[in-house]
Amino acid sequence: MSDNILNFSLADFFFNDSPSVLNPPSDFEEWMGHPAVQRGFSFYEQELLEAPRVSTRIRSNLDGKERRIINLTSYNYLGLSTHPEVIQAAKDALDKYGLGSSGAPLLSGTLDIHVELAQKLAEFKKKEDCLLFSSGLGANVGTIQGLLRKGDYMVVDEKIHKSIIDGGTLSGAKMLFFDHNSMDSLQMMLEKTKGKRTLVAVEGVYSMDGDLPRLPEILDLCDEYGAGSYVDEAHSTLMFGANGRGVAEHFGVEDRVGISFGTLSKSFGGVGGFVCGSKPIIRYLKGYASPWNFSCAPSPAVSGGLLKALEIATRDSSLRDKLWKNVTYLKNGLNRLGLDMGESESQVIPIIIGADGAKLMRFAAAMQTRGLFLQPVDFPAVPAHARRFRISVSSQLTQAEMDETLNIIEDVIVKGKE
Ligand SMILES: Cc1ncc(COP(=O)(O)O)c(C=O)c1O
Repeated sequence: MSDNILNFSLADFFFNDSPSVLNPPSDFEEWMGHPAVQRGFSFYEQELLEAPRVSTRIRSNLDGKERRIINLTSYNYLGLSTHPEVIQAAKDALDKYGLGSSGAPLLSGTLDIHVELAQKLAEFKKKEDCLLFSSGLGANVGTIQGLLRKGDYMVVDEKIHKSIIDGGTLSGAKMLFFDHNSMDSLQMMLEKTKGKRTLVAVEGVYSMDGDLPRLPEILDLCDEYGAGSYVDEAHSTLMFGANGRGVAEHFGVEDRVGISFGTLSKSFGGVGGFVCGSKPIIRYLKGYASPWNFSCAPSPAVSGGLLKALEIATRDSSLRDKLWKNVTYLKNGLNRLGLDMGESESQVIPIIIGADGAKLMRFAAAMQTRGLFLQPVDFPAVPAHARRFRISVSSQLTQAEMDETLNIIEDVIVKGKE
């Protein structure tokens, strides 16, 4: 293995033939311990020393030095995680309710602010009801595992988030993948599941590519084949649609979506997840979604902050407008540099580098040394031929920070000044 260590990835160590389940595969340790692999992983679990603002400090894993960097990696798209009103509301909730909810929602963990947050999210999403979870991943896993059973079918876009796949696996439903955004492929899968209970799941903004689903056509096919629809609006809620309700609003199809999922950890700036749907579905999920009924309710401080975040993001469109101005500015700049941004239509902008993983890591190191924090995204998270950086644009970026970002990207990626 030592000769071709860089040809391996996490995809190669999933199956484990060691005699004990408590031991990883023997060559996993050898691989992980290799300096080149260690260097690659040093870009991950990077410690931030301040809040995840655009301008923040890290202790760089590259050399142990503290650096102020432009952070284009956090999901704090609208800056709400550090908004002064949000912080004050979280402090007030902390004072009033303490740190934790101290119980699962079904038994003793439901606080009045959880009920208020769920009601406001349901109103916002124009659905009858809403279920709050302590994590977005838990909301996806729990909802899908709570709704589907062995013998059911799930038809998902091949680029769907892992949490939806995990929910499907746990449910025992059979899972079929359609080619990304291909209506022919979706229809082919729906032909196979014709007459069976089927859920079609797509994302609002695909998290590695930044493109949108062809939602009206997807919903037409769901109607034609009698399938239920599930839209994961993790990266689109508060950003898309005239009122920020997401891509379903953007496409004018909100009333046709069966279940609308959102996370509270991205544009909302907190942590947690939620699903909105009809009252009967939410009532049913309360009985069967394990991450809801077997896990502690969300932290009161976070819930208090989230209520304020929702109010701020919906009282006018100023944060959203700033975000889209910044997206346009950065995309124009990246276009001028001739970079491959794939099919991005959103604030998630990939810069696709290609198959050369070593080059990706060298670029990441050079940019970080210059003060730009852009995470490399490697195989198997993305296809091996399309390794990339992924920019998460924030409404908080200043003109000077965007110009500096473009300068560093030009020097390192375009001119190869490593
Ligand atoms: C599309 C999508 N769905 C769900 C999740 C899970 O959300 P959370 O991080 O809030 O648990 C993520 C997180 O990255 C995501 O990108």
